[in-house]
Amino acid sequence: MVKWDEKFRIGVGNIDYHHRKLVQIIADLEEYEQSQEFEPHVVGDALDTLCEYTKYHFKAEEEFMEKVDYPQLTEHKKIHISFIEKVVEMQSEVKNKETLQNIIFFLSTWLIHHIKQEDGKIGTFIDNNLETN
Ligand SMILES: [Fe+2]
Repeated sequence: MVKWDEKFRIGVGNIDYHHRKLVQIIADLEEYEQSQEFEPHVVGDALDTLCEYTKYHFKAEEEFMEKVDYPQLTEHKKIHISFIEKVVEMQSEVKNKETLQNIIFFLSTWLIHHIKQEDGKIGTFIDNNLETN
């Protein structure tokens, strides 16, 4: 089960809050998958919510990177775009429990990796380049 860990924090208040919420949305979906029957409209709504919140979060994260002149903004934006494309593609493929398990595995693995690796680099950049007070 995917779970938030304080080690995932990058040190930017609203971004850490968004990440925590994204982990929670995926954890809720995982719990649903493990405890209830597959219902297409429930799963469809949950994935729509995840997709919308992810877009909202990426926009905020990208605005933050712009504000601090983050040098790898372009590459980071590309990673966000390809993730959204993948989620949209997978949304149309979720037809039963097995495909739902696959998408949950992809989402949780991708998100945790992205937060630790790519978003973690933003945190390191902030630590090294901005005054803290
Ligand atoms: Fe990101």
